[in-house]
Amino acid sequence: MELTGKVAVVSGGGSGIGRATALALIERGASVVVADIDIAGAEETVRMAASRGGKAAARRCDVTRSEDLAAAFTAATAEFGRFDVAFNNAGIGGEDIFSDEAGDWQRIVNIDLTAVIDATRIAVREMRRGGKPGVIINTASMGGLLPMPDSPVYAAAKAGVVNFSRSLGYLAADSNIRVNAICPSFVDTPLVRRSGEERMQEVGRLVGGILEPEDIAAGVIELIEDDSRFGSVMRVTIRGGRDFVREVRPF
Ligand SMILES: NC(=O)c1ccc[n+]([C@@H]2O[C@H](COP(=O)([O-])OP(=O)(O)OC[C@H]3O[C@@H](n4cnc5c(N)ncnc54)[C@H](O)[C@@H]3O)[C@@H](O)[C@H]2O)c1
Repeated sequence: MELTGKVAVVSGGGSGIGRATALALIERGASVVVADIDIAGAEETVRMAASRGGKAAARRCDVTRSEDLAAAFTAATAEFGRFDVAFNNAGIGGEDIFSDEAGDWQRIVNIDLTAVIDATRIAVREMRRGGKPGVIINTASMGGLLPMPDSPVYAAAKAGVVNFSRSLGYLAADSNIRVNAICPSFVDTPLVRRSGEERMQEVGRLVGGILEPEDIAAGVIELIEDDSRFGSVMRVTIRGGRDFVREVRPF
């Protein structure tokens, strides 16, 4: 999909990977609805977009609420006249499952998996209604492809995003909507900085280095622009750059 004149909704667009992607979309000539539970972060992204001459709108959106998601997608058409791309990217980490008395692990599943399913479901319906081609990119993680002993719930949720997105590849033929997943390795964002500088450097050494949010944004742009990609799972790593998980041989 050629991005000039198109309209995208980026969840988690108020920080990190979402913000970098919103700005990359602006640079390609798209307009962006920046949807985030952190409205101040979303507004800052909109200011950054405006300073680059781009059109963006901030929208407070809690991705665990279907009505917020629906409002963010309809805002694309209301604000900018169309809706072409959904980047379902909002996410959290930071679990400690075996000392989790309050059951907070469920929040990770709710945001990192359930909300991605819900956002995809609502975006597909909205895109079908518009009758034009659409692209949906869901943010998974290398943690969705590999074991993560310190974050097993996060790994399970992200593995769910991978196979959910891959399962919807058929929508390209069915409705002209391409659904793909992106699996970043370790990226320098507030999400990982919360675990502290020492931990960050330690993981960085383990995976061969730390990516920048712009590296993931470039992957998202590639997935949007390459019409041959549907049901694909892109990895972004320091060692391998951008590549794709090979299709699983069916039976
Ligand atoms: N940083 C990494 O190393 C890394 C690696 C792989 C995957 N990811 C994934 O990338 C995505 C973006 O993470 P990031 O690293 O940019 O983190 P980040 O913390 O910088 O950004 C996440 C954004 O999501 C928003 N958010 C959180 N809960 C929300 C909710 N309920 N509704 C709406 N917005 C909400 C936050 O306010 C924040 O702006 C996440 O899905 C994360 O799991 C990150």
